[in-house]
Amino acid sequence: MIDLHVHILPGLDDGPGSLDEALAMARCAYADGTSAVVATPHVITGLYPTNREKILAAVAHFNEILQENEITLSVLPGAEYRLEPDLPERQTRGELLTLNDAGRYLLVELPLSLIPGCTGRVIFELLLRGVVPVIAHPERNSSLAKDPSLLYDLVSRGALAQVTAGSITGMFGSAAASAARIFLEHGCAHFVASDAHSPHGRAPVLSSAAREAERLIGKANTQSVLIVNQRLAVKGEHIPTAGLKSIRPARNGLLRKLLPR
Ligand SMILES: [Fe+2]
Repeated sequence: MIDLHVHILPGLDDGPGSLDEALAMARCAYADGTSAVVATPHVITGLYPTNREKILAAVAHFNEILQENEITLSVLPGAEYRLEPDLPERQTRGELLTLNDAGRYLLVELPLSLIPGCTGRVIFELLLRGVVPVIAHPERNSSLAKDPSLLYDLVSRGALAQVTAGSITGMFGSAAASAARIFLEHGCAHFVASDAHSPHGRAPVLSSAAREAERLIGKANTQSVLIVNQRLAVKGEHIPTAGLKSIRPARNGLLRKLLPR
């Protein structure tokens, strides 16, 4: 398996605080059946001002250390960008790091509760530039969890989405679990990834979510969201979205009015 969303580089964000912890995460991922992870440190203006050069250098350095420690896990470069209004301009300036630096898929996170007013425009302008935004853990955004049809809207416009393994298994509570299930069942979730931050608790483990996903959406769809789409993403290849089913808007539709067209 390839885990597309892991905070494994020490000292860049709220992931592992030491090299030992980062190595423990690598051992944990490998033991769970993962052969490669995309390192996706947070990039948030004013909070985690990491840049692509620092991440590329940290990934190269960490891969050397993994080899020295005889851990057979590949770490690929990536980042998790907070959805900010100037992402398209930063992409034009060559400042962003797509998944595996393959130029096509950009991991983007929303704040925990809001859907910023610029969301629709940013997604549209990234797509115009040939970059597909992958919305990280939509099930943990409370607006999307309350009205899952809002994610359907974003996916219909060309975005993809990544559900977190721990949400499927209930680690983030019932609202996130229920939204994750709806997204999977409606073809609105294209990837399951760990979003791991440490060797314990939020660990790089996918196998238990894989079992639960199989129960919810069957074996073939689970293979797509855990294995097939990941291989395509790191190569920058097209990911089929034919299984998308519409999600009916939540009752009052108030949040829908807030989402810019
Ligand atoms: Fe993350």
